[in-house]
Amino acid sequence: MAVMKWSEAFPPTATFTEANIPDQSGRVFIITGGTSGCGFELAKAVYNLNGRIYIAGRSQDRVEAAIDKIKSSPAAPHPNVETGKGSLHFLYLDLEDMPTVKSAADEFMGKEERLDVIWHNAGIMGVPDGSKTKQGFETHIGVNAFAPWLFQHFLTPLCLRTAARSEVQPFSTRVIWVSSAGHRGSPQPDGVNWDDVAMHDKKGFMSGVMVKYGQSKAMNVMHAHEFARRYGEKGLLSVSLHPGNLKSNLTRHQSWLFRALTNPLLYDAHHGALTELFAGFADAGQEEGRMVEEGGKNGSFVEPWGRWGTEEGNHVFDGLRERNTGERLWALCEEWLPDEV
Ligand SMILES: NC(=O)c1ccc[n+]([C@@H]2O[C@H](COP(=O)([O-])OP(=O)(O)OC[C@H]3O[C@@H](n4cnc5c(N)ncnc54)[C@H](OP(=O)(O)O)[C@@H]3O)[C@@H](O)[C@H]2O)c1
Repeated sequence: MAVMKWSEAFPPTATFTEANIPDQSGRVFIITGGTSGCGFELAKAVYNLNGRIYIAGRSQDRVEAAIDKIKSSPAAPHPNVETGKGSLHFLYLDLEDMPTVKSAADEFMGKEERLDVIWHNAGIMGVPDGSKTKQGFETHIGVNAFAPWLFQHFLTPLCLRTAARSEVQPFSTRVIWVSSAGHRGSPQPDGVNWDDVAMHDKKGFMSGVMVKYGQSKAMNVMHAHEFARRYGEKGLLSVSLHPGNLKSNLTRHQSWLFRALTNPLLYDAHHGALTELFAGFADAGQEEGRMVEEGGKNGSFVEPWGRWGTEEGNHVFDGLRERNTGERLWALCEEWLPDEV
């Protein structure tokens, strides 16, 4: 199967936009990595819908610069939301350093009594072969996959309490795992190279870097599905997505030649925010809260610029459906949990 579908490379015009989303006053959100790219555009959109947003990032200066920029940008007109009641807050989180993941969750839960939607959006691509996080994870795995799982691990009790509130609609409490079409380039047969997850001996751009990135993004898909399987009955919706091919800082580790060749095929980052808005707010209905393999939306994959995807013939979804790979990965992440947490 091709890594990228034609309709992901050249998506149809978005039919779900900010204009389809009601006022978000009183609801609380976390966006990891809102300093640039689609996370920044997403934060701007939710702020203008009057949400209370925490941008979780590793640089206070960059997050505060993003907050200033959002506040000083004019809001696009909305048919029935009068903007101006949103708020933006910095939350310190470095996905390369696991203790900050716990402290970010603790700080958030010390301040807020609900978490309506979290977008695990922050990510990196193409870091050099051999790179490791502070605790020694291969960087793609640590930053893109394990740290978001760990952050969610600490926040899940609050998500469950939010979903259980009497005024909260079923499946409006959501956990969004920002993956990539690149997840289809992950190792066969399951998406995870179980015997050697770090794959440090795989080197080079196509056989090393992009396979490791693909694996980390397959893990996002698997976490979304397994989270849905575990918590769907409690009214939570969990999906992964490909935001689209976007102009952003994601290619910062690539050569100028790679950037020059791919740039003409990239879209404005606001389009990626539309995909993330769809995942966070589009109607998935009570019935659609069933698992994707049962005809529902829970655990599914959203495609740009906001369409429920179908993943027939995708080895990662085959593994989830046929070999319980989501449960296996969850158990592996639990093994990786540091002793002190
Ligand atoms: N752009 C695309 O074409 C594309 C395609 C498929 C999937 N995606 C996915 O979309 C998501 C957003 O990417 P983007 O394109 O918007 O890229 P981006 O502009 O590079 O944004 C990435 C965000 O992640 C943050 N981040 C990186 N490392 C971090 C760490 N250790 N701790 C906390 N935050 C960290 C960055 O913060 P700093 O300011 O601190 O660096 C930045 O805010 C990623 O998960 C990416 O894999 C993007």
